[in-house]
Amino acid sequence: MRETIPLLIDTDPGVDDALALLMAFDDPAHRVVALTIAAGNVGLVHTVANALKLCEVVGTDVPVHAGCPVPLVYPSGDAAFVHGNDGFGDIGYQPAQRAAEHEHAALAIIRHAREQRGKLCLVALGPLTNLALAVRLEPALPSLVARLVVMGGAVTGQGNTTVAAEFNIGFDPEAARVVFEAFPAFEIVDWEAVLRHGFLHAAFEAWLATGDARARFYDAISRKTRAWAGDRRGDHWHSADALAMAVALQPDSSLHSELRHVGVETEGRLTRGATVVDWAGRGGQAANARIHLAVDQPAFEARIRSALGVPVA
Ligand code: RIB
Ligand code: CA
Repeated sequence: MRETIPLLIDTDPGVDDALALLMAFDDPAHRVVALTIAAGNVGLVHTVANALKLCEVVGTDVPVHAGCPVPLVYPSGDAAFVHGNDGFGDIGYQPAQRAAEHEHAALAIIRHAREQRGKLCLVALGPLTNLALAVRLEPALPSLVARLVVMGGAVTGQGNTTVAAEFNIGFDPEAARVVFEAFPAFEIVDWEAVLRHGFLHAAFEAWLATGDARARFYDAISRKTRAWAGDRRGDHWHSADALAMAVALQPDSSLHSELRHVGVETEGRLTRGATVVDWAGRGGQAANARIHLAVDQPAFEARIRSALGVPVA
């Protein structure tokens, strides 16, 4: 049996985070060592409760660490209009019995990076506030991890929260700037790639109908979000964090990626939170990001079905 890869997921659950977490816990090649929780989609109280509930549904006692309740510098609006006021579709679930750990998320990120001695795969599915704090506390953090995969950004400026900004980066641009300037070689799965890798609502509903208890829970918490998306984005549904997790779990499912320098605008009147990509190499700065542009769609969808317990045909 090959050694499993240690995985630490920083996340703001959130409906699409939940699908990504189901995928991570479903993959035998990885072992989730901790979940660190950010504020973003909804407030930290809810994102922590949602993470603990998801762990209960999966049946894991993986430690959950609460992080920062607010962005580093300026306040930001949440995405409750997408995910529900509680971030999990307002279904009124019975809270998990377990509580979060006392250790702060930023300290947990540093500790696990050190303990895993260069083997840790970090996946960031929310605003980068916790990761930025961890980098400030331990400047050597980038050298202590094997990979950093970030769901975030809009690499040609087609944002989803403002004209130019994607939500995770736009919620805390200062944090994203700290992380992007500290990590010399991270990976990005951006919003525009997410829009290229949707799946039919009808297909997803069929997977939910044939899956196991995970599918039934996910059907309930995602119903509001799927209805919201169906009204606005047509017959395909998009799960941003699930796509990023698919690339994190199976790097060879990335069919096309480009190495470029990516910066974060923190000042722009129109562009605050934008991920500015040096596509033409004019800036002279070394590339710091592998931008994943195309992902193996069948492999992606197979991982989702597996995470929902859908029987293999
Ligand atoms: O822009 C999509 C991202 O913002 C996803 O991670 C979603 O969960 C929200 O955090
Ligand atoms: Ca998220």
